[in-house]
Amino acid sequence: MKKKNIFKLNSVVLVFLLAACNSSSSTFESSDVEANNENSEEGVIIAETKESLGEKLFKDSELSRNGNQSCATCHNPDHAFIDDRINASSVDTTTPGAVSLGQDDLSLGDRNTPTAAYAAFGPDFHFNQEEGLFMGGQFLDGREPDLQGQAGQPFLNPVEMQTTKADVVSKVENKYGDAMRHLYGEQIFDTVDSAYDAITESIGAFEETDVFAPFDSKFDKVLQGEAAFTEEEQQGFVLYVLKRKGNCAACHPVPTALSEEHESVFTDFTYDNLGVPVNHLARSVNGKEKDFVDNGLFDNPAVDDPSLKGAFRVTGLRNMAVTGPYMHNGVFKDLKTVVHFYNTRDVDGAINPETGEEWQPSEVEVTKNTEELGNLGLTDAEEDAIVAFLKTLTDSRYEHLIP
Ligand code: HEC
Ligand code: HEC
Repeated sequence: MKKKNIFKLNSVVLVFLLAACNSSSSTFESSDVEANNENSEEGVIIAETKESLGEKLFKDSELSRNGNQSCATCHNPDHAFIDDRINASSVDTTTPGAVSLGQDDLSLGDRNTPTAAYAAFGPDFHFNQEEGLFMGGQFLDGREPDLQGQAGQPFLNPVEMQTTKADVVSKVENKYGDAMRHLYGEQIFDTVDSAYDAITESIGAFEETDVFAPFDSKFDKVLQGEAAFTEEEQQGFVLYVLKRKGNCAACHPVPTALSEEHESVFTDFTYDNLGVPVNHLARSVNGKEKDFVDNGLFDNPAVDDPSLKGAFRVTGLRNMAVTGPYMHNGVFKDLKTVVHFYNTRDVDGAINPETGEEWQPSEVEVTKNTEELGNLGLTDAEEDAIVAFLKTLTDSRYEHLIP
Protein backbone atom coordinates (compact mmCIF):
# COMPACT_ATOMS: atom_id res chain seq x y z
CA MET A 1 0.00 0.00 0.00
CA LYS A 2 3.01 2.26 0.24
CA LYS A 3 1.62 4.52 2.85
CA LYS A 4 -1.33 5.84 0.97
CA ASN A 5 -2.64 7.30 4.14
CA ILE A 6 -5.59 9.10 5.44
CA PHE A 7 -3.86 12.43 5.79
CA LYS A 8 -4.68 13.05 2.16
CA LEU A 9 -8.30 13.43 3.11
CA ASN A 10 -7.75 16.86 4.55
CA SER A 11 -10.24 16.03 7.22
CA VAL A 12 -8.94 17.04 10.58
CA VAL A 13 -11.82 15.31 12.31
CA LEU A 14 -11.00 11.98 10.72
CA VAL A 15 -7.33 12.18 11.51
CA PHE A 16 -8.11 13.11 15.06
CA LEU A 17 -10.55 10.25 15.51
CA LEU A 18 -8.18 7.71 14.05
CA ALA A 19 -5.39 8.88 16.28
CA ALA A 20 -7.67 8.59 19.27
CA CYS A 21 -8.74 5.07 18.29
CA ASN A 22 -5.25 3.81 17.73
CA SER A 23 -3.93 5.01 20.99
CA SER A 24 -6.55 3.97 23.46
CA SER A 25 -9.58 1.87 22.57
CA SER A 26 -8.97 -1.85 22.66
CA THR A 27 -12.28 -2.92 21.18
CA PHE A 28 -13.39 -1.82 17.79
CA GLU A 29 -16.39 0.47 17.90
CA SER A 30 -18.33 1.04 14.74
CA SER A 31 -17.20 4.20 13.06
CA ASP A 32 -13.50 3.85 13.65
CA VAL A 33 -13.32 5.70 10.40
CA GLU A 34 -15.97 8.28 11.12
CA ALA A 35 -16.92 10.59 8.34
CA ASN A 36 -17.12 14.23 9.04
CA ASN A 37 -20.81 14.06 8.34
CA GLU A 38 -21.40 15.89 11.58
CA ASN A 39 -20.12 18.91 9.68
CA SER A 40 -23.34 19.92 8.12
CA GLU A 41 -23.72 23.10 6.23
CA GLU A 42 -27.17 24.60 6.51
CA GLY A 43 -28.42 21.17 7.54
CA VAL A 44 -27.08 19.43 4.42
CA ILE A 45 -24.90 16.44 5.11
CA ILE A 46 -21.62 16.80 3.33
CA ALA A 47 -18.38 14.96 2.92
CA GLU A 48 -18.70 11.29 3.56
CA THR A 49 -15.26 10.00 2.55
CA LYS A 50 -14.58 6.93 0.41
CA GLU A 51 -13.07 5.36 3.51
CA SER A 52 -16.04 6.06 5.79
CA LEU A 53 -18.52 4.89 3.16
CA GLY A 54 -16.34 1.81 2.65
CA GLU A 55 -16.56 1.05 6.34
CA LYS A 56 -20.36 1.12 6.22
CA LEU A 57 -20.39 -1.14 3.15
CA PHE A 58 -17.89 -3.53 4.77
CA LYS A 59 -20.19 -3.93 7.77
CA ASP A 60 -23.58 -3.90 6.03
CA SER A 61 -25.19 -7.35 6.13
CA GLU A 62 -28.11 -6.20 4.02
CA LEU A 63 -25.89 -6.32 0.95
CA SER A 64 -25.79 -10.12 0.96
CA ARG A 65 -28.61 -12.02 -0.72
CA ASN A 66 -30.81 -12.59 2.32
CA GLY A 67 -29.43 -9.72 4.31
CA ASN A 68 -27.55 -11.59 6.99
CA GLN A 69 -23.86 -11.52 6.04
CA SER A 70 -21.33 -8.74 5.56
CA CYS A 71 -17.61 -8.71 4.91
CA ALA A 72 -17.25 -8.21 8.66
CA THR A 73 -19.06 -11.50 9.33
CA CYS A 74 -16.05 -13.36 7.97
CA HIS A 75 -13.52 -10.63 8.75
CA ASN A 76 -14.57 -9.63 12.25
CA PRO A 77 -12.91 -6.34 13.26
CA ASP A 78 -13.13 -7.39 16.92
CA HIS A 79 -11.19 -10.57 16.17
CA ALA A 80 -8.29 -9.50 13.97
CA PHE A 81 -10.50 -9.54 10.87
CA ILE A 82 -10.93 -13.33 10.74
CA ASP A 83 -14.08 -15.45 10.86
CA ASP A 84 -14.26 -16.50 14.50
CA ARG A 85 -17.58 -18.33 14.17
CA ILE A 86 -17.76 -22.01 15.10
CA ASN A 87 -19.26 -24.31 12.45
CA ALA A 88 -19.28 -27.93 11.22
CA SER A 89 -15.65 -27.61 10.11
CA SER A 90 -14.48 -26.70 13.65
CA VAL A 91 -12.36 -29.40 15.29
CA ASP A 92 -13.91 -28.63 18.68
CA THR A 93 -16.40 -26.30 20.32
CA THR A 94 -13.92 -23.51 20.92
CA THR A 95 -12.06 -23.40 17.59
CA PRO A 96 -13.39 -21.25 14.75
CA GLY A 97 -14.36 -23.14 11.61
CA ALA A 98 -11.52 -24.19 9.33
CA VAL A 99 -13.65 -22.85 6.49
CA SER A 100 -16.46 -20.28 6.48
CA LEU A 101 -20.21 -20.53 6.33
CA GLY A 102 -21.98 -18.67 3.52
CA GLN A 103 -24.96 -16.36 3.92
CA ASP A 104 -27.40 -19.28 3.50
CA ASP A 105 -26.00 -20.80 6.73
CA LEU A 106 -25.36 -24.01 4.78
CA SER A 107 -22.62 -23.58 2.19
CA LEU A 108 -19.05 -24.01 3.36
CA GLY A 109 -15.94 -22.84 1.55
CA ASP A 110 -12.71 -24.78 1.09
CA ARG A 111 -10.11 -22.29 2.28
CA ASN A 112 -9.58 -20.82 5.71
CA THR A 113 -10.58 -17.18 5.82
CA PRO A 114 -7.38 -15.16 6.11
CA THR A 115 -7.24 -11.94 8.09
CA ALA A 116 -8.01 -8.81 6.12
CA ALA A 117 -5.69 -6.87 8.45
CA TYR A 118 -2.49 -5.68 6.76
CA ALA A 119 -3.80 -7.09 3.43
CA ALA A 120 -3.33 -3.65 1.87
CA PHE A 121 0.45 -3.99 2.04
CA GLY A 122 0.72 -6.74 -0.55
CA PRO A 123 1.96 -5.59 -3.95
CA ASP A 124 -0.36 -6.14 -6.91
CA PHE A 125 -0.01 -9.63 -8.37
CA HIS A 126 2.99 -9.80 -10.71
CA PHE A 127 5.85 -11.93 -11.99
CA ASN A 128 9.14 -10.68 -10.58
CA GLN A 129 11.63 -11.12 -13.43
CA GLU A 130 14.66 -10.66 -11.22
CA GLU A 131 13.65 -13.39 -8.77
CA GLY A 132 11.82 -15.47 -11.36
CA LEU A 133 8.87 -15.72 -9.00
CA PHE A 134 5.21 -14.78 -8.81
CA MET A 135 4.52 -12.30 -6.03
CA GLY A 136 1.68 -10.48 -4.33
CA GLY A 137 -1.98 -10.33 -5.20
CA GLN A 138 -5.07 -10.88 -3.08
CA PHE A 139 -6.48 -14.29 -2.12
CA LEU A 140 -4.16 -17.14 -1.22
CA ASP A 141 -3.56 -17.81 -4.93
CA GLY A 142 -3.23 -14.14 -5.92
CA ARG A 143 -6.09 -14.40 -8.39
CA GLU A 144 -7.19 -10.82 -7.80
CA PRO A 145 -4.48 -8.24 -8.38
CA ASP A 146 -5.54 -5.79 -5.66
CA LEU A 147 -8.01 -4.91 -2.90
CA GLN A 148 -10.62 -3.42 -5.19
CA GLY A 149 -10.63 -6.51 -7.39
CA GLN A 150 -10.80 -8.69 -4.30
CA ALA A 151 -13.75 -6.79 -2.83
CA GLY A 152 -15.80 -7.46 -5.96
CA GLN A 153 -15.74 -11.23 -5.46
CA PRO A 154 -17.39 -12.17 -2.12
CA PHE A 155 -20.77 -10.63 -3.04
CA LEU A 156 -20.94 -12.87 -6.11
CA ASN A 157 -19.35 -16.00 -4.62
CA PRO A 158 -21.88 -18.88 -4.62
CA VAL A 159 -20.70 -20.10 -1.20
CA GLU A 160 -20.35 -16.66 0.38
CA MET A 161 -22.70 -13.69 -0.05
CA GLN A 162 -24.53 -15.28 -3.01
CA THR A 163 -25.89 -12.18 -4.67
CA THR A 164 -25.52 -10.24 -7.94
CA LYS A 165 -23.90 -6.97 -8.92
CA ALA A 166 -27.30 -5.51 -9.82
CA ASP A 167 -28.73 -6.42 -6.44
CA VAL A 168 -25.81 -4.96 -4.50
CA VAL A 169 -25.94 -1.78 -6.55
CA SER A 170 -29.67 -1.32 -6.05
CA LYS A 171 -29.39 -1.81 -2.28
CA VAL A 172 -26.47 0.60 -2.11
CA GLU A 173 -28.34 3.18 -4.18
CA ASN A 174 -31.28 3.03 -1.80
CA LYS A 175 -29.22 3.39 1.34
CA TYR A 176 -26.13 5.32 0.32
CA GLY A 177 -27.15 6.93 -2.98
CA ASP A 178 -26.40 10.50 -1.89
CA ALA A 179 -22.96 9.68 -0.54
CA MET A 180 -22.12 7.66 -3.66
CA ARG A 181 -23.15 10.51 -5.97
CA HIS A 182 -21.30 13.00 -3.83
CA LEU A 183 -18.09 10.95 -3.96
CA TYR A 184 -18.26 9.47 -7.44
CA GLY A 185 -20.41 11.88 -9.43
CA GLU A 186 -24.06 12.19 -10.43
CA GLN A 187 -23.66 9.60 -13.20
CA ILE A 188 -22.33 6.86 -10.96
CA PHE A 189 -25.55 4.82 -11.04
CA ASP A 190 -25.92 5.07 -14.83
CA THR A 191 -24.55 1.55 -15.22
CA VAL A 192 -24.39 -1.33 -12.79
CA ASP A 193 -20.70 -1.81 -13.52
CA SER A 194 -19.66 1.76 -12.79
CA ALA A 195 -21.57 1.76 -9.52
CA TYR A 196 -20.22 -1.66 -8.56
CA ASP A 197 -16.66 -0.50 -9.26
CA ALA A 198 -17.19 2.53 -7.02
CA ILE A 199 -18.55 0.31 -4.24
CA THR A 200 -15.54 -2.00 -4.36
CA GLU A 201 -13.15 0.93 -4.58
CA SER A 202 -14.70 2.41 -1.49
CA ILE A 203 -14.38 -0.87 0.43
CA GLY A 204 -10.76 -1.12 -0.69
CA ALA A 205 -10.14 2.43 0.55
CA PHE A 206 -11.49 1.48 3.99
CA GLU A 207 -9.18 -1.55 4.02
CA GLU A 208 -6.24 0.78 3.42
CA THR A 209 -6.87 2.78 6.58
CA ASP A 210 -4.91 2.41 9.80
CA VAL A 211 -7.84 0.55 11.36
CA PHE A 212 -6.45 -2.49 9.55
CA ALA A 213 -2.83 -1.69 10.34
CA PRO A 214 -2.11 -0.18 13.74
CA PHE A 215 1.47 -1.52 13.91
CA ASP A 216 1.30 -1.34 17.71
CA SER A 217 2.24 -4.86 18.80
CA LYS A 218 4.79 -5.59 21.49
CA PHE A 219 7.23 -6.34 18.67
CA ASP A 220 6.76 -2.81 17.31
CA LYS A 221 7.29 -1.37 20.76
CA VAL A 222 10.49 -3.37 21.15
CA LEU A 223 11.63 -2.06 17.78
CA GLN A 224 10.99 1.50 18.95
CA GLY A 225 12.80 0.88 22.23
CA GLU A 226 9.56 1.23 24.21
CA ALA A 227 9.38 -2.35 25.50
CA ALA A 228 11.65 -5.33 26.04
CA PHE A 229 11.27 -8.99 25.08
CA THR A 230 11.16 -11.59 27.84
CA GLU A 231 14.04 -14.05 27.78
CA GLU A 232 11.90 -16.66 26.02
CA GLU A 233 10.63 -14.19 23.39
CA GLN A 234 14.19 -13.08 22.72
CA GLN A 235 15.32 -16.68 22.32
CA GLY A 236 12.35 -17.32 20.00
CA PHE A 237 13.25 -14.29 17.92
CA VAL A 238 16.80 -15.57 17.43
CA LEU A 239 15.59 -19.09 16.55
CA TYR A 240 13.05 -17.61 14.13
CA VAL A 241 15.76 -15.77 12.25
CA LEU A 242 18.63 -18.28 12.29
CA LYS A 243 18.98 -20.18 9.05
CA ARG A 244 20.10 -23.45 10.66
CA LYS A 245 17.36 -23.23 13.32
CA GLY A 246 13.81 -22.06 12.50
CA ASN A 247 14.73 -20.41 9.20
CA CYS A 248 11.36 -18.64 9.30
CA ALA A 249 12.77 -15.33 8.09
CA ALA A 250 13.70 -16.93 4.75
CA CYS A 251 10.05 -16.46 3.76
CA HIS A 252 8.62 -14.33 6.59
CA PRO A 253 11.29 -11.58 6.80
CA VAL A 254 11.72 -9.54 9.96
CA PRO A 255 11.56 -5.75 9.67
CA THR A 256 13.94 -3.33 11.31
CA ALA A 257 13.11 0.06 12.78
CA LEU A 258 13.96 1.54 9.37
CA SER A 259 11.74 -0.74 7.29
CA GLU A 260 8.82 0.63 5.31
CA GLU A 261 5.37 -0.54 6.34
CA HIS A 262 5.05 -2.90 3.37
CA GLU A 263 8.28 -4.57 4.51
CA SER A 264 6.91 -4.99 8.02
CA VAL A 265 4.21 -7.61 7.69
CA PHE A 266 6.41 -10.71 7.91
CA THR A 267 5.96 -12.02 4.39
CA ASP A 268 7.98 -11.68 1.21
CA PHE A 269 4.68 -12.14 -0.73
CA THR A 270 6.05 -15.12 -2.69
CA TYR A 271 4.41 -18.54 -3.08
CA ASP A 272 5.42 -21.93 -1.75
CA ASN A 273 4.10 -25.45 -1.32
CA LEU A 274 4.79 -26.45 2.29
CA GLY A 275 3.15 -29.84 1.96
CA VAL A 276 0.28 -28.95 4.28
CA PRO A 277 -1.93 -32.01 4.92
CA VAL A 278 -5.44 -32.23 3.42
CA ASN A 279 -8.17 -31.07 5.82
CA HIS A 280 -10.39 -34.13 5.71
CA LEU A 281 -12.87 -32.75 8.22
CA ALA A 282 -13.51 -29.63 6.11
CA ARG A 283 -13.78 -31.75 2.96
CA SER A 284 -16.23 -34.11 4.62
CA VAL A 285 -18.64 -31.27 5.40
CA ASN A 286 -18.22 -28.90 2.46
CA GLY A 287 -19.34 -31.28 -0.26
CA LYS A 288 -16.22 -31.15 -2.43
CA GLU A 289 -15.87 -34.12 -4.78
CA LYS A 290 -13.50 -36.87 -3.60
CA ASP A 291 -10.91 -36.13 -6.27
CA PHE A 292 -10.91 -32.35 -5.82
CA VAL A 293 -7.42 -30.87 -5.51
CA ASP A 294 -6.72 -27.31 -4.41
CA ASN A 295 -3.78 -26.43 -6.62
CA GLY A 296 -3.38 -22.95 -5.13
CA LEU A 297 -1.28 -20.66 -7.31
CA PHE A 298 -1.51 -23.06 -10.29
CA ASP A 299 -5.26 -22.41 -10.46
CA ASN A 300 -4.60 -18.70 -10.92
CA PRO A 301 -5.42 -18.07 -14.61
CA ALA A 302 -2.13 -16.14 -15.03
CA VAL A 303 -0.06 -19.21 -14.09
CA ASP A 304 0.61 -22.31 -16.19
CA ASP A 305 3.79 -23.76 -14.66
CA PRO A 306 2.92 -27.16 -13.12
CA SER A 307 5.82 -26.88 -10.67
CA LEU A 308 3.69 -24.25 -8.91
CA LYS A 309 0.89 -26.69 -8.10
CA GLY A 310 0.00 -26.57 -4.41
CA ALA A 311 1.81 -23.27 -3.77
CA PHE A 312 0.08 -20.67 -1.60
CA ARG A 313 1.09 -17.12 -0.80
CA VAL A 314 3.42 -16.76 2.18
CA THR A 315 1.18 -15.49 4.95
CA GLY A 316 1.92 -12.33 6.85
CA LEU A 317 2.38 -13.20 10.53
CA ARG A 318 0.94 -10.18 12.33
CA ASN A 319 -1.81 -11.23 14.78
CA MET A 320 -1.08 -14.92 14.13
CA ALA A 321 -1.55 -15.80 17.80
CA VAL A 322 -5.26 -14.95 17.52
CA THR A 323 -6.12 -16.04 13.98
CA GLY A 324 -6.24 -19.82 14.20
CA PRO A 325 -6.96 -22.29 12.77
CA TYR A 326 -3.97 -22.17 10.45
CA MET A 327 -2.79 -22.75 6.89
CA HIS A 328 -4.78 -22.27 3.69
CA ASN A 329 -7.23 -24.97 4.72
CA GLY A 330 -7.30 -24.37 8.47
CA VAL A 331 -5.97 -27.87 9.15
CA PHE A 332 -4.00 -26.94 12.30
CA LYS A 333 -5.66 -25.58 15.39
CA ASP A 334 -2.66 -24.38 17.41
CA LEU A 335 0.29 -22.22 16.51
CA LYS A 336 2.58 -24.69 18.24
CA THR A 337 1.42 -27.39 15.82
CA VAL A 338 2.39 -25.16 12.89
CA VAL A 339 5.90 -24.81 14.30
CA HIS A 340 6.08 -28.53 15.08
CA PHE A 341 5.05 -29.24 11.48
CA TYR A 342 7.89 -27.14 10.08
CA ASN A 343 10.22 -28.83 12.55
CA THR A 344 9.26 -32.49 12.01
CA ARG A 345 7.25 -32.93 8.79
CA ASP A 346 9.99 -35.13 7.32
CA VAL A 347 11.12 -36.88 10.51
CA ASP A 348 10.27 -40.59 10.47
CA GLY A 349 7.50 -41.43 12.90
CA ALA A 350 6.88 -37.80 13.93
CA ILE A 351 3.37 -37.25 15.24
CA ASN A 352 0.83 -34.50 14.62
CA PRO A 353 -0.10 -33.65 18.23
CA GLU A 354 -3.64 -32.73 17.20
CA THR A 355 -4.48 -36.11 15.65
CA GLY A 356 -2.06 -38.40 17.50
CA GLU A 357 -1.10 -39.80 14.08
CA GLU A 358 1.84 -39.30 11.75
CA TRP A 359 1.80 -36.22 9.49
CA GLN A 360 -0.45 -36.96 6.54
CA PRO A 361 0.66 -36.24 2.97
CA SER A 362 -0.35 -32.98 1.31
CA GLU A 363 -2.62 -32.64 -1.69
CA VAL A 364 0.29 -32.02 -4.03
CA GLU A 365 3.29 -34.00 -2.85
CA VAL A 366 5.58 -33.72 -5.87
CA THR A 367 6.13 -29.97 -5.69
CA LYS A 368 6.56 -29.57 -1.95
CA ASN A 369 9.49 -27.63 -0.54
CA THR A 370 11.95 -30.06 1.05
CA GLU A 371 14.88 -27.66 1.29
CA GLU A 372 13.79 -25.04 3.79
CA LEU A 373 11.66 -27.00 6.23
CA GLY A 374 10.68 -30.45 7.35
CA ASN A 375 13.48 -31.41 9.72
CA LEU A 376 14.76 -28.43 11.68
CA GLY A 377 16.04 -30.26 14.76
CA LEU A 378 14.38 -27.86 17.21
CA THR A 379 13.71 -28.99 20.78
CA ASP A 380 10.27 -28.72 22.35
CA ALA A 381 11.40 -25.68 24.36
CA GLU A 382 12.73 -24.07 21.21
CA GLU A 383 9.36 -24.54 19.51
CA ASP A 384 7.73 -22.90 22.53
CA ALA A 385 10.12 -19.99 22.28
CA ILE A 386 9.23 -19.39 18.62
CA VAL A 387 5.55 -19.42 19.59
CA ALA A 388 6.29 -16.92 22.38
CA PHE A 389 7.97 -14.66 19.83
CA LEU A 390 5.02 -14.98 17.40
CA LYS A 391 2.68 -13.85 20.19
CA THR A 392 4.53 -10.53 20.34
CA LEU A 393 3.23 -9.75 16.84
CA THR A 394 -0.29 -9.20 18.19
CA ASP A 395 -1.80 -5.71 17.87
CA SER A 396 -2.59 -4.28 21.27
CA ARG A 397 -6.34 -4.32 20.75
CA TYR A 398 -6.25 -8.11 20.25
CA GLU A 399 -3.83 -9.02 23.03
CA HIS A 400 -6.69 -10.09 25.30
CA LEU A 401 -7.56 -12.80 22.75
CA ILE A 402 -4.19 -14.60 22.94
CA PRO A 403 -4.90 -18.15 24.12
C1 HEC B 1 -18.20 -16.27 3.85
C2 HEC B 1 -16.99 -15.67 4.37
C3 HEC B 1 -16.41 -14.46 3.67
C4 HEC B 1 -17.04 -13.27 3.38
C5 HEC B 1 -18.51 -12.91 3.57
C6 HEC B 1 -16.02 -12.39 2.87
N1 HEC B 1 -14.81 -13.05 2.86
FE1 HEC B 1 -13.02 -12.21 2.43
N2 HEC B 1 -12.18 -14.04 2.38
C7 HEC B 1 -12.82 -15.21 2.72
C8 HEC B 1 -11.99 -16.34 2.32
C9 HEC B 1 -12.32 -17.81 2.53
C10 HEC B 1 -10.84 -15.79 1.71
C11 HEC B 1 -9.68 -16.58 1.07
C12 HEC B 1 -10.21 -17.17 -0.22
C13 HEC B 1 -9.17 -17.66 -1.20
O1 HEC B 1 -7.96 -17.47 -1.00
O2 HEC B 1 -9.59 -18.24 -2.22
C14 HEC B 1 -10.99 -14.35 1.79
C15 HEC B 1 -10.02 -13.44 1.37
C16 HEC B 1 -10.13 -12.07 1.55
C17 HEC B 1 -9.06 -11.13 1.36
C18 HEC B 1 -7.64 -11.46 0.90
C19 HEC B 1 -6.72 -11.64 2.04
C20 HEC B 1 -5.41 -12.21 1.57
O3 HEC B 1 -4.55 -12.43 2.43
O4 HEC B 1 -5.23 -12.47 0.37
C21 HEC B 1 -9.56 -9.89 1.63
C22 HEC B 1 -8.81 -8.56 1.59
C23 HEC B 1 -10.97 -10.05 1.94
N3 HEC B 1 -11.26 -11.40 1.91
C24 HEC B 1 -11.87 -9.02 2.13
C25 HEC B 1 -13.25 -9.24 2.07
C26 HEC B 1 -14.24 -8.20 1.77
C27 HEC B 1 -13.91 -6.76 1.46
C28 HEC B 1 -15.47 -8.80 1.83
C29 HEC B 1 -16.82 -8.17 1.57
C30 HEC B 1 -17.01 -7.61 0.26
C31 HEC B 1 -15.24 -10.19 2.19
N4 HEC B 1 -13.89 -10.42 2.26
C32 HEC B 1 -16.26 -11.10 2.43
C33 HEC B 1 -14.05 -15.31 3.36
C34 HEC B 1 -15.02 -14.31 3.30
C1 HEC C 1 9.78 -21.73 2.42
C2 HEC C 1 9.05 -20.60 2.90
C3 HEC C 1 8.59 -20.61 4.34
C4 HEC C 1 9.33 -20.84 5.48
C5 HEC C 1 10.80 -21.17 5.59
C6 HEC C 1 8.43 -20.65 6.59
N1 HEC C 1 7.17 -20.36 6.14
FE1 HEC C 1 5.54 -20.03 7.26
N2 HEC C 1 4.37 -20.03 5.58
C7 HEC C 1 4.85 -20.11 4.29
C8 HEC C 1 3.74 -20.28 3.38
C9 HEC C 1 3.82 -20.43 1.87
C10 HEC C 1 2.57 -20.30 4.17
C11 HEC C 1 1.13 -20.55 3.69
C12 HEC C 1 1.05 -22.06 3.47
C13 HEC C 1 -0.30 -22.64 3.24
O1 HEC C 1 -1.28 -22.12 3.75
O2 HEC C 1 -0.37 -23.67 2.56
C14 HEC C 1 3.02 -20.14 5.56
C15 HEC C 1 2.17 -20.10 6.65
C16 HEC C 1 2.58 -19.90 7.96
C17 HEC C 1 1.69 -19.78 9.09
C18 HEC C 1 0.18 -19.89 9.05
C19 HEC C 1 -0.46 -18.63 8.70
C20 HEC C 1 -1.96 -18.70 8.61
O3 HEC C 1 -2.58 -17.64 8.59
O4 HEC C 1 -2.55 -19.78 8.53
C21 HEC C 1 2.47 -19.57 10.19
C22 HEC C 1 2.00 -19.35 11.62
C23 HEC C 1 3.84 -19.60 9.75
N3 HEC C 1 3.87 -19.80 8.38
C24 HEC C 1 4.94 -19.45 10.58
C25 HEC C 1 6.22 -19.82 10.20
C26 HEC C 1 7.30 -20.07 11.14
C27 HEC C 1 7.19 -19.89 12.65
C28 HEC C 1 8.36 -20.48 10.40
C29 HEC C 1 9.71 -20.97 10.90
C30 HEC C 1 9.67 -22.10 11.82
C31 HEC C 1 7.97 -20.46 9.00
N4 HEC C 1 6.65 -20.07 8.93
C32 HEC C 1 8.79 -20.79 7.92
C33 HEC C 1 6.18 -20.09 3.92
C34 HEC C 1 7.23 -20.33 4.77
